[in-house]
Amino acid sequence: MRGKFITVEGGEGAGKSTNLEFIRRLLESEGYQVVFTREPGGTTLGEDIRELLLGHKHTGMADDTELLLIFSARAEHLARKIMPALEFGKWVLCDRFTDASYAYQGGGRRIDLERIRQLENWVQGGLKPDLTLLLDLPVDVGLTRAGARSEPDRFESEGMVFFDKVRNSYLKIAAAEPERVKVVNAAASLEEVQRRIEMVLKAFFRAQSESQ
Ligand code: TMP
Repeated sequence: MRGKFITVEGGEGAGKSTNLEFIRRLLESEGYQVVFTREPGGTTLGEDIRELLLGHKHTGMADDTELLLIFSARAEHLARKIMPALEFGKWVLCDRFTDASYAYQGGGRRIDLERIRQLENWVQGGLKPDLTLLLDLPVDVGLTRAGARSEPDRFESEGMVFFDKVRNSYLKIAAAEPERVKVVNAAASLEEVQRRIEMVLKAFFRAQSESQ
């Protein structure tokens, strides 16, 4: 049976890394074989593209270049890693995916959403995540948390206005697709956040076993 595709999204400082690790352990404890990966990246070529996107060598990159590089990395990721794993029956847990393109390039950079949709159709065919967890928190709280970390990358160097647009875009996607996208209040305590994540996943596992 084909595996499931789970993605995790969120703004800066939302606690993605800690919670991805928590989710990976939950999936493994249910007995699923998990491929843990990220975007942009996930393959050798994709990680090289990630460096181009996140590094400061190409500050001032045209918005369309950014979007196309992201979808190039995604095409490689799908062909070489995600699709083979899903077809093999493994579950894929991915740190960000196409919702981030709608939020950052669509919302943040104001690229026409229709163009993103065209690339999505081209590169993904009908593939979409089966479940997406959106770790949501107010931008100022996230930026304060993230600020304590190392040198900001090309995206992290954007300002409040950009991240507000990113957050609103994510919330719009969640409102439009409530079955797939589950919002988790990431401003709560870690214990609370993980309790909510566990609830969402347990419901997802139940739905899987009922549909078998
Ligand atoms: P992160 O996964 O470590 O947070 O860094 C990846 C950065 O790339 C993050 O700032 C969001 C950005 N990004 C996009 O702008 N569009 C995309 O489609 C993806 C996957 C990521």
